[in-house]
Amino acid sequence: MSFISWSEDFSIGIDEIDEQHKKLLRLINSLHQRLVAGDANDIMGKVLDRVADYAEFHFSTEEQWMAQYSYPDTAQHIDEHRQFVVYITALQNRLRNDQGGIAEATMAFLTDWLSRHILEADMALGKYQHATANPALPNVYSTVTYRTDAPVI
Ligand SMILES: [Fe+2]
Repeated sequence: MSFISWSEDFSIGIDEIDEQHKKLLRLINSLHQRLVAGDANDIMGKVLDRVADYAEFHFSTEEQWMAQYSYPDTAQHIDEHRQFVVYITALQNRLRNDQGGIAEATMAFLTDWLSRHILEADMALGKYQHATANPALPNVYSTVTYRTDAPVI
């Protein structure tokens, strides 16, 4: 059972980034399967470490693309990435303090953050990259807004 299925709706049109997003969605689906099986809390340390490591790698890939194409919304986009790291760090601290409910909180956060971030911020990056790399095409880039006032946990 998958919680989020990859579909072309998630494709931002940059193959390297799309492949990394697929991997992140697979990570979420693995966690979902463990939640359904009832033993997700046993692996949350590993899950959060894996998410943190892969997100760092993935965000740096996106940030290199933004630098390469002089993406105008780079600062805002990087800020969203930093907020993701803050959330994951807070979840890791919560796990160390054994406060419970980490698997469910992680699942809810990852599902919500990743789907919105991919469909809004990353999609805008993909459209900008295509418009810049193919100047004959109409410029389909548009500014997106992203809510930044959500509580950490
Ligand atoms: Fe991003």
